[in-house]
Amino acid sequence: ELDRVPHPPRRLPLLGDVVGVDRRKPVQDSMRFARELGPVFRRRIFNKEIVLVWGAGPAADLADESRFAKHVGLGVANLRPIAGDGLFTAYNHEPNWQLAHDVLVPGFSRDAMEGYHGMMLAVAGRLTDRWDRELAAGRPVDVPGDMTKLTLETIARTGFGHDFGSFERDRPHPFVSAMIGTLTYAQRLNAVPGPLAPLLLRGAARRNAADMAYLNRTVDALVEERRGSGGGDGDLLDRMLATEHPSTGEKLSAQNVRRQVITFLVAGHETTSGALSFALYYLARHPDIAARARAEVDRVWGATGRPGYEQVAKLRYVRRVLDESLRLWPTAPAFAREARRDTVLAGDHPMLRGAWALVLTPMLHRDPAVWGENAEDFDPDRFTPQAVRTRAPHTFKPFGTGLRACIGRQFALHEATLVLALLLRRYDLHADPAYQLKVTERLTLMPEDFRLRLSRRALPG
Ligand code: HEM
Repeated sequence: ELDRVPHPPRRLPLLGDVVGVDRRKPVQDSMRFARELGPVFRRRIFNKEIVLVWGAGPAADLADESRFAKHVGLGVANLRPIAGDGLFTAYNHEPNWQLAHDVLVPGFSRDAMEGYHGMMLAVAGRLTDRWDRELAAGRPVDVPGDMTKLTLETIARTGFGHDFGSFERDRPHPFVSAMIGTLTYAQRLNAVPGPLAPLLLRGAARRNAADMAYLNRTVDALVEERRGSGGGDGDLLDRMLATEHPSTGEKLSAQNVRRQVITFLVAGHETTSGALSFALYYLARHPDIAARARAEVDRVWGATGRPGYEQVAKLRYVRRVLDESLRLWPTAPAFAREARRDTVLAGDHPMLRGAWALVLTPMLHRDPAVWGENAEDFDPDRFTPQAVRTRAPHTFKPFGTGLRACIGRQFALHEATLVLALLLRRYDLHADPAYQLKVTERLTLMPEDFRLRLSRRALPG
């Protein structure tokens, strides 16, 4: 049945669809193929045949939880050696998924979020201190680099009571370098024929083993420290170590705790950092939109020095800027769905139980049938309540879908909205007019070499 699904025209024996592709940018390659081949298409990379879906109709069908579920494949499966049955990489049938989910969900309740707010503000203060220093020295700021410092420190502090000291370093923390190494390696594994991987990637595999060992060591030290101190203030790590399942009384094993800590430290910062970086890129590119967002911050926050928790959710327009950035560049750019039983996708493509397809989110978010012919344009007003209400369901999926959707969605949105607001309030953002957006891929998406020049604006009131 795959025969009817279009694929790139120049398909080589053994190698598959490798003509003219950039192996470092599989998502952007797929976006190009998507435009040529339509809403459901396939790519073959050596012996792997992958079906990709981005049309709003078939993508919405894949969101039907009664027929489809998360599939752990490709890049996600390649992270199993480091994250195992941690929440993100667990197979649906693994008992630790439900256990950890039930134990950790309360860590993202409204009450918990309110508790994180003050810590998020404190970390943001370290970012603005750094940016004030760069500004005084007449230097532009490295946006993705600094957003990564911010989001790593935020999840480390709120979730684990830990301080990586990122802002005191000029280079990224070695945790970040090791993480990027591991994510990049997991992505590269998709681009080589499985049996030859050990040979072709021998050097890379050795570096990856060292990166994984570093991540494990860091996490083990952090957990040891907590066990020694006898408990924190009820943060994610306390829940992982001490909380019993409400109905079974079961606790996470030491090995599973290690995997969850790595999962949360990585999933909890890398994608939010990209989201903030893309949003700042678009704000700098669209001074009119930045002005409107800033006017909202001034109006809602007034003269307050320290915005309260509720004052973040009231920033509707800033939030739309973020949503629109995540529409064009959803920083976790794909998720895979498998058939729970034999079924037909979108009334047209038969799928056997276990067959799977990848939803290509950046293209779903640009389907002209949903977003119009100007889908490539940045326009936060696509997310007014009226527009959202009248749009077809399952057409905006930056946080995945269903039972396995992102557990940290509210956390990320609160953090990113707060930080964008603080930055808009404090600075004018000047992008280098010659800068052309380049997007790097390491399973996640991030703008490359993106710097901003800042000037201080006079605070209102
Ligand atoms: C799952 C995106 C922030 C923790 C996911 C998935 C997506 C996603 C698409 C589903 C993946 C799949 O179906 O295979 C994002 C984006 C973020 C973000 C775009 C920021 C803008 C966060 C944060 C945390 C987090 C801040 C933690 C504090 C997780 C975890 C899962 C997950 C643990 C696995 C959930 C499960 O399967 O039970 N995320 N995420 N994410 N995310 Fe996020």
